[in-house]
Amino acid sequence: MIRLAISKGRILEQAIDILNKINITCKYNPLSTRKLIIPTNNAQLEIVIIKATDVPLYIDSGKVDLGIVGIDTLLENSATNHYRLADLKISKCKLVVAGKPAMKYFNNMKVATKYPNAAKNYFEEAGLQCSILKLYGSIELATVLGLSDFIVDIVESGKTLKENNLKEYDKIADISSLLIANKVSYKLKKTKIDALVSKVLNNGK
Ligand code: PRP
Repeated sequence: MIRLAISKGRILEQAIDILNKINITCKYNPLSTRKLIIPTNNAQLEIVIIKATDVPLYIDSGKVDLGIVGIDTLLENSATNHYRLADLKISKCKLVVAGKPAMKYFNNMKVATKYPNAAKNYFEEAGLQCSILKLYGSIELATVLGLSDFIVDIVESGKTLKENNLKEYDKIADISSLLIANKVSYKLKKTKIDALVSKVLNNGK
């Protein structure tokens, strides 16, 4: 049996499309069911729906063999007991620094973000000190209301920045979703996992 975790949220729909393309269908609709473990038409594969930030822990502990998770989540996590098997090139977006127009970086500025590690590393490498405010959503609001001077956040279409009159200052990283595997699971189930990965990469051909 292979257990595959998929992050809830923006990744889920596109990940299910990928599975459908390789003729794997879920027994319950992952977008509407409240079931957390979903069997598929392949008796050897089940899907587990997990909050994005929790996926690395489940994978690294070996409770789940494979996971589809965003690079943004991995950037924030110290888990290393997994291999990155493939870039699925879904849920593409970027992690950026943004703020009100005509701002300049300065020492001890306040930066609000859901991604404190990535933000801290970025500004440290740029030789700038800043204090990080960890928030959990609607990050743009922090700089609009002056809670912070800048934000570090995900930009996908750019609509949220535009509609709140904010400007992108720097790109920190390109983000997409990766297929990762617990190291021991990969060793023990290599043939099955490799076959699945190769189908995914060849789009079911
Ligand atoms: C994300 C991100 C931005 C927005 C960017 O938030 O934090 O706010 O999407 O997307 P856009 O460039 O296409 O406008 P999300 O929708 O995940 O919700 P959140 O506010 O709860 O973080």
